Amino acid sequence: MGLIRALDEVRRFSHEVREQGRSLGLVPTMGALHEGHLSLVRRARSECTSVVVSIFVNPTQFGPREDLGRYPRNLERDLGLLTPFKIDAVFAPDAGTMYPSGFDTFVDPGAVAQSLEGALRPGHFRGVATVVLKLLNLVRPTTAYFGQKDFQQAMVIRRLIEDFNLDVRLALCPIVREPDGLAMSSRNAYLSAEERVAALALSRALQRAETAFCHGETRLEALVDEMKRVIAAEPHLQLDYAAVAEAQTLAPPAVVIAGSVALIAARVGSTRLLDNLILAPPGTNDEDRLREFETRNSKLEIRNS
Ligand code: PAF
Repeated sequence: MGLIRALDEVRRFSHEVREQGRSLGLVPTMGALHEGHLSLVRRARSECTSVVVSIFVNPTQFGPREDLGRYPRNLERDLGLLTPFKIDAVFAPDAGTMYPSGFDTFVDPGAVAQSLEGALRPGHFRGVATVVLKLLNLVRPTTAYFGQKDFQQAMVIRRLIEDFNLDVRLALCPIVREPDGLAMSSRNAYLSAEERVAALALSRALQRAETAFCHGETRLEALVDEMKRVIAAEPHLQLDYAAVAEAQTLAPPAVVIAGSVALIAARVGSTRLLDNLILAPPGTNDEDRLREFETRNSKLEIRNS
């Protein structure tokens, strides 16, 4: 597994892979790897002949009062976690390499980036879309792997790929949860034992909304109220939003249907946590939810040619 720091080196690597007609998977990360990231690496490994994981804590997606400074960074540990997967390379540029002095061009994502996370974190998706476009341009993967955990981010990137005619397939992979239901996140490392217990209310709230939906409740406000009630009962949590949205656009759906997405974000102490659930009939597992989602939303899945 090579460690690549320089832009010309990653370009050379990608060129060689493509010259040999091999498929190339990219797993973009900000490091602090956990089982959620490793599930993306595993999927990339099973689908592509070559795999690159990028590790870059992207400063342009953090707001001035966010956790850029304290975001967990431990390259040695991350490399150790990746070693068993026998991937081809880790691309870990530094900030000056990705954003040299004079850098002045950003991607400006549209409507899908305006609500929810976009409304609470102005400029966040501009930073995400910019760095993802740069990574896709540098690595030129056949497939890029993203987690459903950051659902809105994945929809912003789908739109980016479609709108900029990028020759890459986006693979969306299920949320990996702790046995008690907590969605895995690098930010879980910030939680005290008490906060970690409180954080379980997010997945509980989503489950509550789905139960109501499965019992026939399709009114948007009623489903949102179900989620709000669960969060309100947990004094350590402050709700940022609870929403049910149309999957591709993140707009409020005219009618809530199987395939609509329940999304929630809350703060516990100084840590923000996100979670979401694609609504489905009882007993549907996460892979099937995503498969159904891909089928329903296949238009953006079509590769540009
Ligand atoms: O999801 C993340 O870890 C980041 O937002 C990403 C996609 C690597 C861009 O910095």
